[in-house]
Amino acid sequence: MTILVTGGAGFIGSNFIHYMLENHYDYKLVCIDKLTYAGNLRNLEKVLGKSNFRFVKGDICDRELVNKIFEEESPDVVINFAAESHVDRSIENPDVFLMTNVLGTQVLLDASRKYGVKRFHQVSTDEVYGDLPLERRDLKFTEESPLKPSSPYSASKTAADLLVLAYHRTYGLPVTISRCSNNYGPYQFPEKLISLMIINAFNNKPLPVYGDGKNVRDWIHVKDHCEALNIILQKGKEGEVYNIGGNNERENIEIVKMILKELGKPEELIRFVKDRPGHDKRYAISTAKMEKEFGWHPKVDFEQGLRETINWYLENRDWWEEIINGEYMKYYERMYGERLK
Ligand code: NAD
Ligand code: DAU
Repeated sequence: MTILVTGGAGFIGSNFIHYMLENHYDYKLVCIDKLTYAGNLRNLEKVLGKSNFRFVKGDICDRELVNKIFEEESPDVVINFAAESHVDRSIENPDVFLMTNVLGTQVLLDASRKYGVKRFHQVSTDEVYGDLPLERRDLKFTEESPLKPSSPYSASKTAADLLVLAYHRTYGLPVTISRCSNNYGPYQFPEKLISLMIINAFNNKPLPVYGDGKNVRDWIHVKDHCEALNIILQKGKEGEVYNIGGNNERENIEIVKMILKELGKPEELIRFVKDRPGHDKRYAISTAKMEKEFGWHPKVDFEQGLRETINWYLENRDWWEEIINGEYMKYYERMYGERLK
C-alpha cells in the first residue's frame, strides 16, 4: 500500500506520518509539501532516512509535479492535509488560501482521477459548519448540518469539500471527507492558541486573548485525530463525510489559565485584546457517526494531553526558538503589535 500524504511537514500531517509508519510497517508513505512558513522538515527528522518514506518538496498546485509523483509512485491512497490553515492569516490575505486550499485540491483530484486511486481522503474542518450560539449548549454539528463558513479560511475549506463531493458524484471518484475540531499536540506551529500561549507564558510575554475569552472550541489531541483518520482510510465508505471531535469543549480563557497554572506563571500575563473579525463563537461536534460505525472515540484525557504537550514544548525549545527567531517575529508584530500596545 502506498499513501501520498500532502502537507506532511506541517503539524497534523507530520503526526499522521509518524503514526502510520509506527503502525503499518508494510506501507510506503510519500509526502509532498511546499514547506511554507508552516512546513518544517524537522517535524519529519525521525523518518527521513527510512526506506519506506519519501519526501518531495513541491506545491500541490503544480500539476506537472503532481502528475510526475503519481507516475512514479502509483499511490493507492491520497490523503490531503496540505492547506493554509490559520484563520487570522486568511483574514489578512485570502489569496493563497483560495489557491492552495481550493485549486490545489482540484489538481490532486484530477491526478487521482487520471491515474486511479482506491481512495482520496480530504482532511477538512468543523469550521465549514460556521458557529453555534454560546447559550445553546445542547446543539452540536452533525454531518448533516448546513455549511455556513465564516472566514476566508473556512470558506476555502468548504469550497474544497464541495469539489471533492462533486468529483465523487460526477466522476465516481472514491472519496471520503473528515471534519475535525481543534487539534493540539507536538509540532503545532506557534500561531495557534495552545502553542502560542505555551511559548508566550514560558517567555513571560503577554498572552493575547481575543474579545472576552469566552469563545468555545472542542479540543482533540492530534493522536486521536490520526487514529480516526486511519480508521476512515481502512473502513470509511465512499462518498461519506465523518465528523471527528474531542468531546471536550472549553472556553479559551479556561485553556489559557490552565497553561499558566501548569507553568507556574501569574494570570497577570493575560491581556484581553481586540477581537478577531467575524470570530466564531462556539464549535461543538457530534462524534456519534464515528462511534456508531467504527466504535471510535477520542481517548486522550485533556488535562493529561495538555500537560504532555506543554512538556514537549519545554523539551523541544530549539524547535520553536528556531521558528520564533525567523520570519515569525514580523507576523507576530503585524498580528499583535497594535493589539498589545
Ligand atoms: P499546518 O499549517 O501546520 O500545515 C500545513 C502544511 O501544508 C505545511 O507543511 C505547509 O508547508 C503545507 N502546504 C501549504 N500549502 C501547500 C501547497 N500549496 N503545496 C504543498 N504543501 C503545502 O496545518 P495543520 O494544522 O497541520 O492542518 C492540516 C490540515 O488539517 C489542513 O487541511 C487543515 O485545514 C486541517 N485541520 C486542521 C485542524 C487544526 O486544528 N489544526 C483541525 C481540523 C482540520
Ligand atoms: O476547528 C478546527 C480549526 O481549528 C482548524 O480548521 C484550523 O486550521 C485551526 O487553526 C483552528 O482554528 P481556530 O481559529 O479555532 O484556532 P486558533 O488556535 O487560531 O484559535 C482558537 C481560539 O483562540 C479562537 O477562539 C481564537 C482564540 N485566540 C487565538 C489566538 C491565536 C486568541 O484568543 N488569541 C490568540 O492569540
